[in-house]
Amino acid sequence: MIAPSILSADFARLAEEAAAVKGADWLHVDVMDAHFVPNLTLGLPVVQSLLAATDIPMDCHLMIENPGRWAPPYAEAGAYNVTFHAEATDNPVAVARDIRAAGAKAGLSVKPGTPLEPYLEILRDFDTLLVMSVEPGFGGQAFIPEVLGKVRAVRKLVDAGELSILVEIDGGINADTVEQAAEAGVDCFVAGSAVYSAEDPAAAVESLRRQALAASPHLRA
Ligand code: DX5
Ligand code: ZN
Repeated sequence: MIAPSILSADFARLAEEAAAVKGADWLHVDVMDAHFVPNLTLGLPVVQSLLAATDIPMDCHLMIENPGRWAPPYAEAGAYNVTFHAEATDNPVAVARDIRAAGAKAGLSVKPGTPLEPYLEILRDFDTLLVMSVEPGFGGQAFIPEVLGKVRAVRKLVDAGELSILVEIDGGINADTVEQAAEAGVDCFVAGSAVYSAEDPAAAVESLRRQALAASPHLRA
């Protein structure tokens, strides 16, 4: 699955930019609050408008403090998947429960330096795991390959039937990095600059998908 990130799109033309990635599996929307990360993007009103403007399932990535308070409304608004950061709350299971109760899939995200071990036990309460492969906050950064160890660890548990979760990667995914991420066991690839800086964003989505499929045994299984 490929999830173009509209962080690299033209914010004055979001509906058109969503239409430009026809064929994308999810539309990745980065919500930043200038507190959890040093950048500010958009919030619920913009997500509500964008939900009305596209049929592509929306993948909301909340890089915000206090997700217990702010995450469920994105699910109520109709987002398909709502992901928040493990580092932003003391009670991720309760937040996941509220997101699911509001009708969306629940995702947990970890920054590049955050180990997975403390969270392995609670992953059963989540539908998706978003492994950050750059420091959250900005598009266009270089991929950090060291995070693939976390992808491999979760892939192993999923393949062994011990866990059922979708593994997503976010940051620095492009034609040069998508294959190593696919080999490590990623299911869903977020790509911002690689898609929206392309002449034809829909073709860039298709090309990333082809590369991922060719590189990954589990995606073809
Ligand atoms: C970064 C965001 C990413 C960002 C990725 O904090 O979470 O979704 O858009 O952008 P690229 O693909 O350009 O690294
Ligand atoms: Zn993101």
